[in-house]
Amino acid sequence: MIAAIHPATAIAHPNIAFIKYWGNQDEALRLPLTGSISMNLDGLFTSTTISPDENLTTDSFWLDGVSQSGSALDRVINYLDQVRNLAEKEFYVRVESTNNFPAGAGIASSASAFAALAVAAASVFGLDMSEAQLSALARLGSGSASRSIPAGFVEWQPARTHNNSYARSIAPADHWGLIDVIAILNPGQKKTGSTEGHRLAQTSPLNVARVALVPERLERCRQAILERDFEGFAEVTETDSEHMHAVMRTSTPALVYQTSETLAILRQVKRWRDQGHAVCATVDAGPNVHVIALAAEREWLEKELNSIGTIKRLITCRPGSGARLLSESPG
Ligand code: PMV
Repeated sequence: MIAAIHPATAIAHPNIAFIKYWGNQDEALRLPLTGSISMNLDGLFTSTTISPDENLTTDSFWLDGVSQSGSALDRVINYLDQVRNLAEKEFYVRVESTNNFPAGAGIASSASAFAALAVAAASVFGLDMSEAQLSALARLGSGSASRSIPAGFVEWQPARTHNNSYARSIAPADHWGLIDVIAILNPGQKKTGSTEGHRLAQTSPLNVARVALVPERLERCRQAILERDFEGFAEVTETDSEHMHAVMRTSTPALVYQTSETLAILRQVKRWRDQGHAVCATVDAGPNVHVIALAAEREWLEKELNSIGTIKRLITCRPGSGARLLSESPG
């Protein structure tokens, strides 16, 4: 009986990790090897509407107006199966998602996608959940999605069980005027997705060292954010990004996401910091460079980056809010 169930729409922002999530202790549950810290990205978002439909014999998934099939659809169906099991419900739904950022720009959308999907699905399937429970639910779709549920600056604690592995806000979005200027480069060859990448982390001999060093880095990064200490923040953020890419490069098979263009921009950002600018850089599972800076640097920084010929475009984001429901069943 689904007649009384109404559609729900949720939106969520992607996030950029300062201390990265790379590798799982439990692959199926996406329980990470380490904690991680990130900032939600205001201005970029996924909006997802879930509509129950009596005529459906399976779920359907539309992304930016295009009906999805194959692995993209399978991932959504597998996810909804988990939500249905939790809710003990058996009806199917139509999922319509739009991203306000271009698919080909190389900005990972799985965090905002699964955070919005989790919030909308919890509503449609009648799961009354706390923020922590929604974060854990989002994590089942994509680990970093757990961090797009709470607002602002967010930390995801490692844990051995589903219920305990969730993210929470360590500071609201207006706590610190950081910006993320995303320098979008040519994607080059097709990259290995992060789900496969997490599996490979443990094949790197450097992974054990990285995992051992992360707890101390989480502490330093959290403190630097709380104290608005840009120097301390920049140092720990860049080190963690370097260590993750060292693990990637020394995995079997090797994962090389950074291109020579990426490295040139990283070197330039270091030079600017040496000259006294409040800028640092971090890179995810792709070639793009996220230049993190104090907001006061924005005009100067965008001008400098715009003069670098290898950068296709810039997208600048401030700290963003958490995932939220826009509409739901009346009553
Ligand atoms: O949530 P996933 O499985 O897409 O993994 C995200 C991995 C990185 O973006 C490279 C790091 C992170 O913490 O966001």
